[in-house]
Amino acid sequence: MATVVQPEAESRSAVPEYRLEGKTALVTGGSRGIGKAIALALAARGANVGLTCLTGCKFAEDVRGQIRDMGRRSEYFAHDVGDAGEVSKLSNEVGELLGEVDILVNNAGIARDRSFKKMTQEMWDSVIAVDLTGVFAVTKQFIDGMADRGWGRVINISSIVGEVGNFGQANYSAAKAGVIGLTKTLAREYARKGVTVNAIAPGFIRTRMMQEIPEKSLEAVMNMTPVGRLGEPVEVAAGVAFLASPAASFITGHVLDINGGMAMGG
Ligand SMILES: NC(=O)c1ccc[n+]([C@@H]2O[C@H](COP(=O)([O-])OP(=O)(O)OC[C@H]3O[C@@H](n4cnc5c(N)ncnc54)[C@H](OP(=O)(O)O)[C@@H]3O)[C@@H](O)[C@H]2O)c1
Repeated sequence: MATVVQPEAESRSAVPEYRLEGKTALVTGGSRGIGKAIALALAARGANVGLTCLTGCKFAEDVRGQIRDMGRRSEYFAHDVGDAGEVSKLSNEVGELLGEVDILVNNAGIARDRSFKKMTQEMWDSVIAVDLTGVFAVTKQFIDGMADRGWGRVINISSIVGEVGNFGQANYSAAKAGVIGLTKTLAREYARKGVTVNAIAPGFIRTRMMQEIPEKSLEAVMNMTPVGRLGEPVEVAAGVAFLASPAASFITGHVLDINGGMAMGG
């Protein structure tokens, strides 16, 4: 009978390991909202954490301070993930200041909502550039290093809207659905190299992104959500911390719904 080779099996502990000591994480868009909660959660589990910012670097400075207060290393990097040249600079700076990245969280994202009839080419291009091409560009900088070292985690923040669509979000839903396709393909390509690639599809989470949604629409959202409220950034961060952990080593190509039951399965 052929031997089944399990290269990692012997080094895996007998109880699930959730700690991240000795790992370095990079969280794009870690200056506020969901990304800030993710950066703090990963640091609380023991990781050194780099974060990126664009317009909110003063908030990123505060997040960096909170992470350093936990005794971890942290730096922030001001770069536009929608610009390939900037992403290349980001990669160099991260290498110089924090070293190799073991955990990449592609969280940076924007929305430019309008009904399809009124959506302009610019609105389409800008959202695809940041929310989809940005994920491609940042991942390209870091995933092969993880593969070479035989361990890595890529976690992409998609959205419930990428799964079920949403009125006024043709650009955003296309980008977020694209992220799911990219996640599943990378999961297949890197599975034998010790790198897992997963996505999280949050429902409606209380952040700046929600501020543009009229109160009436938010009420409708809450009525459609079985738990009856918006989610909190920390509830998304909890899923990222789990998927980033050694305990999640047999989970890849998965889309984790964190949506209060708004859409189930699929
Ligand atoms: N809130 C929700 O209900 C919800 C639901 C599903 C999915 N999501 C996704 O979750 C992620 C985080 O969203 P959020 O709600 O936390 O939004 P947010 O509060 O607006 O934060 C967005 C983050 O992305 C960064 N960012 C935006 N454009 C960038 C660019 N071109 N380059 C680099 N960084 C950029 C921002 O940096 P600066 O602040 O420094 O500019 C900020 O840190 C996004 O991918 C979003 O699509 C959110």
